[in-house]
Amino acid sequence: MPDAVKVGFVAFPAATRGVLVVFCDDALKYGAETRKALGTAADTLKRAAAANQFKGKSASTLDMPAPEGIKAERLIVVGLGKVADIEEKDFLRFGGVTAGKLNAASTVVTIIAELPDGAMPADAAAAIASGIRLRAYRFDRYKTKKKEGESETLRADVSLAVGDVAAARKAFAPASHVVDGVIMARELVNEPPNILYPVEFARRASQLRKLGVDVEVLDVPAMKKLGMGALLGVAQGSTQPGRTVIMRWHGGKKGDQPVAFVGKGVCFDTGGISIKGAASMEDMKGDMGGAACVVGLMHALAARKAKVNVVGAIGLVENMPDGNAQRPGDIVTSMSGQTIEIINTDAEGRLVLADVLWYVAKKFKPKFMVDLATLTGAIMVALGTEYAGMFSNNDELSERLSRAGNETGERVWRMPLGPEYDKLIDSKFADVKNAGVRNGGSITAAQFLQRFVDNTPWAHLDIAGTAMGAPNTDINHSWGSGYGVRLLERLVAEHYEAKK
Ligand code: BES
Ligand code: MN
Ligand code: ZN
Repeated sequence: MPDAVKVGFVAFPAATRGVLVVFCDDALKYGAETRKALGTAADTLKRAAAANQFKGKSASTLDMPAPEGIKAERLIVVGLGKVADIEEKDFLRFGGVTAGKLNAASTVVTIIAELPDGAMPADAAAAIASGIRLRAYRFDRYKTKKKEGESETLRADVSLAVGDVAAARKAFAPASHVVDGVIMARELVNEPPNILYPVEFARRASQLRKLGVDVEVLDVPAMKKLGMGALLGVAQGSTQPGRTVIMRWHGGKKGDQPVAFVGKGVCFDTGGISIKGAASMEDMKGDMGGAACVVGLMHALAARKAKVNVVGAIGLVENMPDGNAQRPGDIVTSMSGQTIEIINTDAEGRLVLADVLWYVAKKFKPKFMVDLATLTGAIMVALGTEYAGMFSNNDELSERLSRAGNETGERVWRMPLGPEYDKLIDSKFADVKNAGVRNGGSITAAQFLQRFVDNTPWAHLDIAGTAMGAPNTDINHSWGSGYGVRLLERLVAEHYEAKK
């Protein structure tokens, strides 16, 4: 969906047209350029702040018709809080709350991007711009009529006035590619399942070729040949054939071990023969949130020409109940050779991932693998929608992910693994079973995956609570959140890229 909000940078002094946006700290202090732009309106502004009990708290806003003395039509003050306490992710929020204030009448917007005590760092200005784009995204492709009260489409041109335009543009160029990746992931999650089935998903992932990504699509005969019996067992109940897509970005040195990302791509999860209840089943169109993240991440890394070799792999299936669907009691043979007893056909994500993880571990011998999956309802019981669950066999990778999570605001919380949990998925008839008891359901799911990573440093992110349907935030009002793109892009940028 093309962005209806365009964001760019201009030099001081800022033109004060349309909507004027300025920042102040928690002492209602403004920067020099802002004071210049406000001129005699500063006094009215002070009274408006008092009357509205606006105290400049972080991400709070004061919104009013522009007072006498400014040529703009509307003035929005965004609070920065205490400047010393501002973290990187706060700048995203400042952009987000600004975009949240815009409406169909806000066609021209000027933001005076400075701090009370001086210039705003280029990274911070870029983060504000990113926050604007993230918040402005909407998924309304299938709405042919606007209901009364639903706001009309935004068509805004937003300019951030900064001291150093070149530096801000340079900082925003890669950041904007990351935003594109997030929006791509959101789109895929939001799309309905009759439109976005495995073959169509693979086609969309193939468009990454335009950025120089190698994309290989494995069809059913190819997967049969590889022995991917676990993934194919899930796919066999649908008239839509499954696919595995391997995306490779060669931005590092030739022969350098790649990093790898693996996504669960269940385009729709009915539960199969162990069918789900009707309540909220429509949400299971988002059961490909892990795969969507991997595609968005590959986009971000390739578009900003990341200096690293990356493998992205996604297993795409539809989990349906029909005459050919697999049954509880079936035993399938995975690519690893391990046999799996199907206890519950609704525990399908781990079956898909088992074969894709194994394939990636063996074929690419990556430095590490991170998989993302909307894997269990149980992770939502444990962590709600604030943190994704993280399970890992590697402390260094876990710590790096935790740090990237805190920085980006896409947080992860480490959960336990261990032999006591692992034995809960030993099967009476096969090597392993695909479901344990109800208690500790997210952990036994992770234990299952671990049996298919073969000592590769690995982390599993259970994103059932964070990929879709989470409450709106300052930087997201869409059902699909695009969770994980910013987190993993940061992980790569901080630890695995050759320095320029
Ligand atoms: N896709 C679901 C998990 C899910 C549920 C994601 C709700 C997002 C929202 C997964 O395939 C599933 O059905 N898991 C089962 C596993 C159980 C049968 C062992 C679950 O969590 O109940
Ligand atoms: Mn399921
Ligand atoms: Zn599922």
